[in-house]
Amino acid sequence: MRLFFAVELPPEVQAALGRLKPDDEESRDYRWVDHSLLHVTLAFLGEQPEERLQALETVGREAAKHSHRGALRLGAAGHFGSARAPRVLWVDLAGDLTKLTALQTNLIEQLRAHRFPTEDRPFRAHITLARRRETARGGPPQTWPPQVDRAQFTMKQLTLMHSRLSPRGPTYTPVTHFPLDG
Ligand code: 2AM
Repeated sequence: MRLFFAVELPPEVQAALGRLKPDDEESRDYRWVDHSLLHVTLAFLGEQPEERLQALETVGREAAKHSHRGALRLGAAGHFGSARAPRVLWVDLAGDLTKLTALQTNLIEQLRAHRFPTEDRPFRAHITLARRRETARGGPPQTWPPQVDRAQFTMKQLTLMHSRLSPRGPTYTPVTHFPLDG
């Protein structure tokens, strides 16, 4: 199973992000994530055997138990990679970022304790909106970076998510929700 831990976004926040997609002509060099799939990735696990699910349940439960709810809102639009040909277009987060970062730190600690692979690079909380196509020739859309509607939401839970890839795009199914401490 291809798995990752994420903070899910409420539909109205996803919808606000969906409105940032430029028109087709402007966005053709980028593959835009369907707005209903948008989330904040905290840890990507890749393919894991089903036997490891129980350990991941413990990881999620322990990480969530030691983390707190937080008030988050959408931040600014930005990119990874060069400004001329950005690899990833994203929107970051604002608000109780220390709570979000603490949750991610707790999660990584638990993953390491259970011998799961983790990335060493520092965590940069973001929501990936679009990825550059390999065939891309041009730069980012002219409208990038757009002004972002500062939609707010409460981070209440951590989600272990199952990702299925298909030629029509990925589907994400929550495996377990782990409520955060008040
Ligand atoms: P991203 O938003 O930071 O790109 C589900 O596939 C999520 O897991 C994606 O949103 C992506 O996070 C992350 N992800 C996918 N493939 C990955 C990989 N090979 N390495 C690290 N993270 C990956």
